[in-house]
Amino acid sequence: MEKANTNLNITFRDMRAEDAPALYQIECEAFAKPWSISSLTALACAPNALARVALSDGEIVGYYSLYRSFEEGDINNIAVRKDMRGRGIGSLLIKDMLEECKKQGVDRLFLEVRASNSPAISLYEKFSFRQFSVRKKYYDGEEDALLYAVLL
Ligand SMILES: CC(C)(COP(=O)(O)OP(=O)(O)OC[C@H]1O[C@@H](n2cnc3c(N)ncnc32)[C@H](O)[C@@H]1OP(=O)(O)O)[C@@H](O)C(=O)NCCC(=O)NCCS
Repeated sequence: MEKANTNLNITFRDMRAEDAPALYQIECEAFAKPWSISSLTALACAPNALARVALSDGEIVGYYSLYRSFEEGDINNIAVRKDMRGRGIGSLLIKDMLEECKKQGVDRLFLEVRASNSPAISLYEKFSFRQFSVRKKYYDGEEDALLYAVLL
């Protein structure tokens, strides 16, 4: 168990199928195209996924997921409940992700992020993710996707 940089008590566990409705609420406030409840249920059960939730007082306040392929991981999503952002939970999620990946033999991680998403870009760069490429107008033919990676 790790403490956030406030007096929050944050714990982590693997995602479960029954978490999907709570995750869907967070997806809806975080992303223009949220994953559906059935996709989130499938994610929790996928054998090639690493998917974890952060809990505060028994409630889900954030989560992340990635798909593994041998030593590589592709991050799908990371999000913190809107009313809980800016309190260190995103950083704790990334720390948990890096620790779990190392334990499971994943040695590099990839992700794509909207060029306008400065909170996420700052978070990734804080944990040594580095931009290595860009997909021009990737989102709806309008916004660039920045491709980031980190070696563990
Ligand atoms: C990105 C996100 C997960 C960060 O979660 P969080 O709990 O607010 O993050 P933290 O409080 O741990 O902050 C960690 C770092 O993120 C960055 N950050 C967080 N909020 C920020 C903001 N509003 N503006 C700029 N940088 C910000 C900072 O680098 C911060 O480090 P610092 O506190 O040392 O300055 C959260 O904003 C979120 O859920 N966004 C919507 C979903 C999303 O965009 N996910 C990424 C998809 S690629």
